[in-house]
Amino acid sequence: QPVHLQEYQPPAYQVSHTELTFDLDPAATRVSARLDMTRHPEAASDAPLFLHGEYLTLHSLALDGTVLDEGDYRLVEGGLEIARVPERFVLESVVEIAPCENTALEGLYQSSGMYCTQCEAEGFRRITYYPDRPDVMATFKVTVIGDKAKSPVLLANGNPVERGELDGGRHFVTWEDPHPKPSYLFALVAGELYKVEDGFTTQSGRDVTLQIWVEEENLDKTAHAMASLKRAMRWDEETYGREYDLDLFMIVAVNDFNMGAMENKGLNIFNSAAVLTHPHTATDQAFQRVESIVAHEYFHNWSGNRVTCRDWFQLSLKEGFTVFRDQCFSADVNSAPVKRIEDVAFFRTAQFAEDAGPTAHPVRPDHYIEITNFYTLTIYEKGAEVVRMLCNLIGAEAFRRGSDLYFERFDGQAVTIEDFVACMAEVSGADLTQFMRWYAQAGTPEIDAYGEYDYVHGEYRLTLRQRTPATPGQPFKKPLHIPVRLGLVGTKSGQDLRLTLAGESLGTDGVIHLREEEQTFVFTEVAEAPVPSLLRDFSAPVKLHFPYSREELAFLLTHDSDGFNRWDAGQRLAMLALDDLIAAHRNGVEKVMDSRVVEAFRLLLTTPMEDKAVLAEMLTLPSEAYIAEQQPLVDVDAIHAAREFVRQSLALALRDEFLALYEDNQSQEAYAPTPEQIGQRSVKNVALAYLMAIDDDQGLAYCQAQFDANHNMTDVRQALTLLVHSEHNHLAAPALKAFGEKWAHDPLVMDQWFTIQVTRPQSDALERVEHLMQHPAFSLKNPNKVRALIGAFAQNRINFHRLDGKGYALLADVVIELNRLNPDVAARMLTPLTRWQRFDDARQALMRQALERIKAEPLSANVYEVIEKALA
Ligand code: ARG
Ligand code: ZN
Repeated sequence: QPVHLQEYQPPAYQVSHTELTFDLDPAATRVSARLDMTRHPEAASDAPLFLHGEYLTLHSLALDGTVLDEGDYRLVEGGLEIARVPERFVLESVVEIAPCENTALEGLYQSSGMYCTQCEAEGFRRITYYPDRPDVMATFKVTVIGDKAKSPVLLANGNPVERGELDGGRHFVTWEDPHPKPSYLFALVAGELYKVEDGFTTQSGRDVTLQIWVEEENLDKTAHAMASLKRAMRWDEETYGREYDLDLFMIVAVNDFNMGAMENKGLNIFNSAAVLTHPHTATDQAFQRVESIVAHEYFHNWSGNRVTCRDWFQLSLKEGFTVFRDQCFSADVNSAPVKRIEDVAFFRTAQFAEDAGPTAHPVRPDHYIEITNFYTLTIYEKGAEVVRMLCNLIGAEAFRRGSDLYFERFDGQAVTIEDFVACMAEVSGADLTQFMRWYAQAGTPEIDAYGEYDYVHGEYRLTLRQRTPATPGQPFKKPLHIPVRLGLVGTKSGQDLRLTLAGESLGTDGVIHLREEEQTFVFTEVAEAPVPSLLRDFSAPVKLHFPYSREELAFLLTHDSDGFNRWDAGQRLAMLALDDLIAAHRNGVEKVMDSRVVEAFRLLLTTPMEDKAVLAEMLTLPSEAYIAEQQPLVDVDAIHAAREFVRQSLALALRDEFLALYEDNQSQEAYAPTPEQIGQRSVKNVALAYLMAIDDDQGLAYCQAQFDANHNMTDVRQALTLLVHSEHNHLAAPALKAFGEKWAHDPLVMDQWFTIQVTRPQSDALERVEHLMQHPAFSLKNPNKVRALIGAFAQNRINFHRLDGKGYALLADVVIELNRLNPDVAARMLTPLTRWQRFDDARQALMRQALERIKAEPLSANVYEVIEKALA
């Protein structure tokens, strides 16, 4: 049954203090709870008490010390109800749960023998009876009792206040968290864990102990996460004036985890893939991902924990804001233009696809069946784009004052998106009424733009027209307030011209505000014919269409002062060429490479560029997934063929340049994940990929040598991928075997080994998936393995979309199995099938067939909700 935003009611009863005792046992953990509760001043005196609870075996229940009989309470769907309670009371309960049987990985579960928890969003109700909603905030005191030998380490939120020995080889630790928090931020970890410890002194002088807890063999993989944490702590002080507020901050790495990580107060729990790194086991990309996730979870301490969400419709309040914060952090400590390019490239591929599909929803949804399905790119990434627009609209300085006000005014409270935006409006005086539509309307707005230069009057007239397509439940959209950052680049001077609009000067890089359906902006005193550079730095999450000629794009590629738009001009130029080639492929016409693209690439390769990571991005063609997003109907084979044709044509035409680029960027330096080294490796590995796209002996020799040199995982993985994805099977097979044997003991490296094999373009990819599902290192119970093998295969477009439907059938089989084991992951794995409308009739039919087959099963709420939308 869907829940609706409009039906929000404050809780009838609050919990002021929560005491929990866990007596740990894999199959029978006893959880005793003692809740200090009070009726909400506005609730009726006869309001019943409702406590959430699922998969709990109730042993006893007592109210103010009196044991309740079965007639005194009712076990109802999803919880327990007590008809009458006093205004203030103490409720005590004892329940039993079975962590070892918990394959959903929500609530208390076991991972590699270790106990751990995941409570966001609604996992706490699998631990004890409780008002499990974010607007109920309590202080917590938690005692964890465990076996001394099996669980020498017992952790929970806050500070340890007492520990001791018990009979029968058991011991306990008691933890206190003084900051009131909702149940979704509760955490417990117990097991044989080892720690790395460091310290941090906050700007006001508080000494904080920092600990990262891992399995013993991973002790040497924590340094980067620790360094990232310290950078993040300093950055939040300097950028937002936010300081840490406990004496202890802990991170724990667990192998089985549904998502990336979780910001539990004082005890962040991480998917091991999001925290462990070592130059030999993790790529540059993994290093950067760890840095950003460590920062993200740390930043939640303020944007999420100290100020939290009133209800789950407000999820983007904490997630959109926190993603924006972690993006800015990563931009500050690395190459800012590359960070933006990477984020936008991903956003325009994956979020645009979500926003155009059957599960499209606004940044603030107004109903859901299963909230877990709403941890999406729209809530996180589009939410971050909306916060970024807000920041740009009112300016960084006002934004900081607004966030100061927000944290001060709402500290310790559970609030709404309006509360956040109201602070920004208050400090800036801006009218953000129309802007609020960004939170309510789903779908990607499209802007059709065209411009005219009037030589006689020296005017440039730019007309922008916006429309947002219909999305499920939202047939009609209102115009949005869209900030369009732009420049006019003079075709003679090659410089940004001064922008004068209605007599007002905007400098050479300005923002215009599109608020109506259609608006014409007349720039005066424009001395020469310009090429407009629009939506600089991706100033709004929209699709912008402008009828650029290839010459104009080639011009922007070299002259635009905005690094992001230079890159985007290259992508647009490549897209035009790809469009022609896709059409040629469909029509069975011979493919001809556009020489303008070749010349643009030649120029890139021969012009020295400061930031090598930017060059690597500029030399990278739009992905097949991105190209697909641009087509009215996705032709999987034509897209693949066209993109391969461009890659090979570029490699053939510019072979010597790529070779030189590769050779010039070799390095013998010791590995460090610095922006300089990462840029150098990126550009070198892009060059190698081009060389391997053609049958080049020198390229192949370099590739094999790079694999053998075994310098770091970034280089090794790229070399192995290129070997396995090429036709050089006599080299690929032994390399793959050696790698698999060498790393059999390391699950995170084995994940990469799986992914490399099932993403190869050759037609045996599906058979390889089937084969690898039998591999001892694979397990459907481990989400990382599922993503590395099945998830990665579903991104292998030509093979997943095989015309015999076997790719779809395989995914359906996996989803059916996962639906029983882990509904959260099952629903996520289903995503590629929900996009069936985008494909040809034959594939549509096969994809629907797979969906119908899943629908016939007894379904979890997660999978049910997605299937219903997909087939609606
Ligand atoms: N709040 C966490 C984060 O942003 C993610 C929560 C995971 N939730 C879940 N239902 N698996 O990092
Ligand atoms: Zn988050």
